[in-house]
Amino acid sequence: GPQRATEIRSLIRDVPGYPHEPIVFRDITPLLADGPALADVVEAFARLCEGDDGHGVDVVAGMEARGFLLGAPLAMRLGVGFVPLRKAGKLPPPVDRVSYDLEYGSAALELRSGTIRAGARVLVVDDVLATGGTAAAAVELVERCGGHVVAAAFLMELDGLGGRARLAGTAVETLLRVGGRPTS
Ligand code: PRP
Ligand code: MG
Repeated sequence: GPQRATEIRSLIRDVPGYPHEPIVFRDITPLLADGPALADVVEAFARLCEGDDGHGVDVVAGMEARGFLLGAPLAMRLGVGFVPLRKAGKLPPPVDRVSYDLEYGSAALELRSGTIRAGARVLVVDDVLATGGTAAAAVELVERCGGHVVAAAFLMELDGLGGRARLAGTAVETLLRVGGRPTS
């Protein structure tokens, strides 16, 4: 409930100007360090997947690095496997890759080829939805590999950065919403 959301929010530390202006870094370290809060978050994600109106998930995919920290415990809770979507150059071949633009330069996510079964129902999980660049690349990568993304789920959605619009066509689930970057 809202009480729980407030408690979880209080365990995410905002760091303005890190790694540089105008970014506000959302540090989930205090949340990860709190056993009951971590369990609550994993349980809240699990509830999105279960029941008649849940997403019905075959496998969880998480983006390096913070998507691993939430996605792997969620997969275990759901009794399904976990697929790491790694940053470029970490996995030996064969890999499938999708590149995406950053504020400065570009990055890529890679997935070990053949990890996702054709038609598998995949839940994409990450900590933060900001511009949506990372998540859009993750969705594209999973779908290129034959998976069906049933939803993209985030601990926190930052308003005003266009992330939800960038994921048009994908069901987006967020546990918390917070104001994005100040406009002035
Ligand atoms: C952060 C965050 C999300 C992404 C959100 O990851 O964990 O994955 O940015 O931003 P976007 O919606 O604008 O793409 P980052 O790659 O900075 O670092 P990490 O390796 O610690 O997850
Ligand atoms: Mg990340």
